[in-house]
Amino acid sequence: MIKIAAVFGSPRRKGNTSTLLDHAVAGARDAGARVTEIVLRDLKMSPCLEIYGCKKAGRCVIKDDYGNIEELFQRIDGLMLASPIFFYTVSAHTKILMDRCNSLWVKKYWIDEQPFGRKNYPRKGLFISVGSTKGKKLFDGALLSVKYFMDALDMELWQSLLFRGIETEGQILETPGSLEAAYEAGKALVETLADNDRPAGDPALPGNLQ
Ligand SMILES: Cc1cc2nc3c(=O)[nH]c(=O)nc-3n(C[C@H](O)[C@H](O)[C@H](O)COP(=O)(O)O)c2cc1C
Repeated sequence: MIKIAAVFGSPRRKGNTSTLLDHAVAGARDAGARVTEIVLRDLKMSPCLEIYGCKKAGRCVIKDDYGNIEELFQRIDGLMLASPIFFYTVSAHTKILMDRCNSLWVKKYWIDEQPFGRKNYPRKGLFISVGSTKGKKLFDGALLSVKYFMDALDMELWQSLLFRGIETEGQILETPGSLEAAYEAGKALVETLADNDRPAGDPALPGNLQ
């Protein structure tokens, strides 16, 4: 079974990105994935303290809720990450998680000595974001952060679902097609990962036979 982690990065419980991610989670589950939901605002997670305790065994030495996430992130096939744009990047909750995942970067590049620059990862990530303004560069900062964060997880930024001009809580509900697009993206992520898993010559079964 395809394993997905869904990270809710907004401080708003019922905010725009949370609503979109709820729909992506529903799509992923309908496609047969096991989805673990992580609501960052409910966790106790210190920012990275840059002490590099992770250099010994590739594990963060700070004892808090990151420990379970670090372990989970090594077992998942895909990730769905949702964060609003705060000052042209991800929310503080999301950035704290990203920085703590530097333990996985250290494991990958310093301990396991994997080469830099790999591109075609089997693991895939979906990024969902919204911002209130409409500028061309609104998502540029966040997309760079997310791309390299996912690389630390041995993962390709597979698709981004981005909405401009969304500010108030619940506004996304008035954006035609947005929830459907999130549902379809969650579903497509799982289908893509399942296709990776399927040996050549083993076509997908029609939905009613799975
Ligand atoms: C601290 C803070 C910083 C923000 N920075 C930006 C920004 O740089 N650009 C932008 O377009 N919107 C910005 N916004 C607006 C949010 O991105 C917007 O309200 C969004 O819909 C919130 O999504 P959520 O409901 O998922 O939390 C900011 C909001 C807050 C609270």
